[in-house]
Amino acid sequence: MSKSISGFSKLSKSKKIDWIVDTYFSNAEDAKNILKQYWNTDEKLQQLHDEFIENTITNYYLPLGVAPNFLINNKLYTIPMAIEESSVVAAASKAAKFWLERGGFKTTVISTTKIGQVHFIFKGDFHALKQFFAKVKPKLFEETESITKNMKKRGGGIIDIELRDKTSDIENYYQLHVSFETLDAMGANFINSCLEQFAKTFKKEALEFNLFTEEEKQIDIIMSILSNYVPNCLVRAEVSCSIEDLSDNDTISGEAFANKFVQAVKIAEVEPYRAVTHNKGIMNGIDAVVLATGNDFRAVEAGVHAYASRNGSYSSLTHAKVENGIFTFWMEIPLALGTIGGLTGLHPLVKLSLELLHKPSAKELMQIVAVAGLAQNFAALRSLTTTGIQQGHMKMHLMNILNQFEANDFEKKTLTEHFKNHTVTHSAVTEAITELRIKTNSE
Ligand code: MEV
Repeated sequence: MSKSISGFSKLSKSKKIDWIVDTYFSNAEDAKNILKQYWNTDEKLQQLHDEFIENTITNYYLPLGVAPNFLINNKLYTIPMAIEESSVVAAASKAAKFWLERGGFKTTVISTTKIGQVHFIFKGDFHALKQFFAKVKPKLFEETESITKNMKKRGGGIIDIELRDKTSDIENYYQLHVSFETLDAMGANFINSCLEQFAKTFKKEALEFNLFTEEEKQIDIIMSILSNYVPNCLVRAEVSCSIEDLSDNDTISGEAFANKFVQAVKIAEVEPYRAVTHNKGIMNGIDAVVLATGNDFRAVEAGVHAYASRNGSYSSLTHAKVENGIFTFWMEIPLALGTIGGLTGLHPLVKLSLELLHKPSAKELMQIVAVAGLAQNFAALRSLTTTGIQQGHMKMHLMNILNQFEANDFEKKTLTEHFKNHTVTHSAVTEAITELRIKTNSE
C-alpha cells in the first residue's frame, strides 16, 4: 500500500531513494542498485544532471546515434539523434545516402517570428480600450527595455504588439498578441519575461487612464505566456530528382516507385488516420535531433501537430509530386529552436552534438532538423510502398529480442548472420535461439 509524503523535495537524494525503494519495491536493495548503476562516477557531472530538475534519483539513458552523409545545401553533415526506436537512425542514414547521390537536400528558412500573448478580461467599451492601448503601447516597449536591451543589440526583440478583440469567443476577453524575433535563442524565457512585464504595465496604466470608468480601470490579467504555435517560424526542406534516378534496384522502376510514393503522400493528405502515423514517422527524425541538441521536443511536437491541422483537418506535413519527369518531395514545418540558452551551454552531450553540426545558428538548426524529418518520412514511405515496413524494422529490432533472451556474443553473431536470409519475427527468433542453445549444449 503506497503512502503520501510531505517535504519530499527537501530530503537528500539518498533519503529520497530510501523512501521510494522502501515504499514501492519488494526488493529494496535490487531497486537501489539499478538506480545507482546509472549514476555517473564523475561527481560534478552527476550533480549537473541532478540539478536539471527536481527530485532527481538517477539518470535515464537514451542512445545517442549519428546519421552521416546528409548533404544539405551542398554542405555535409553527420546528424546526432537521441532516440530509443531501433530502426530510426538506420533509416535516416539510408535516406541520407540515397539523396547524397542525387544532389542532397535543399532547405530555406521562410520566417522566424515567435508569438506570445497576454490574455485579459476587460469589462467596458472596446473603443475606450483601443484608445488606452494606443496610449500605453510605447510604454510597453519602454518598460521592457531592460529585458530586451541585449536581444535588440543583436538585431532581435519585440516586433509588434497588437490588441485583439476575442469577445466573440469569450465574453469580455481580449489579448495583447505580441510577435518576437529571438535570433539564436528559442526565446521562451525572454518572451515570457516581456509578457509578464507588459501585463504589469498594462494593469498599472489602466488604473490611471482618465477615459476609463472605474469598472474599466480594473483590467483582469488572466495569464501571460508564449505560444508554442509558431506558424510564422517556418522552414522548408526539399529533395528532387528525375524519376529514372529514383529507383536503385531492379524490383521496381523509378516511375512506378514515384507514382506509388506520391499516392502514399496523397493518402496522408486526406486521411487523418494515416496522416497521424505518417507525421509520427516524421517526428521520429525531428524529435531525435531536437532532443540531441537540447531543445524542447514537447513544444516542437505541439506546434507541429497544430500546424498539421491548420486547415481544419489533420493532414500530412509532407507533399510530393511528379512534374515533367521530375519527382519532388518537400515539407514546410514550424520549428522554434535555439542554439544558445537553455540546455545548449550546459549539457555536455548537447554541446558535443552542436559542435558535430558545425555549431549551427538557430536558423541552420531549423534546416537540419527539417531535413531529418523529411529523410525519415522518405525512408518510411520507401519501405512501406515497396518491401513493407517490417523487414527493416524487425531486422533492427532483432538485437532487442536477442537481448531479451540475454543472448551472448556468439549467439548474437550466429543469429544476426542467420537472419540476414530469414524473416525476423519474435517467434522465429525464439525458435532459432532455442535450437542454437540445444545444439551448443549437446556439443
Ligand atoms: C514508426 O515509428 C513510423 C512509421 O509508422 C511511419 C509511417 O508509417 O510512415 C513507419
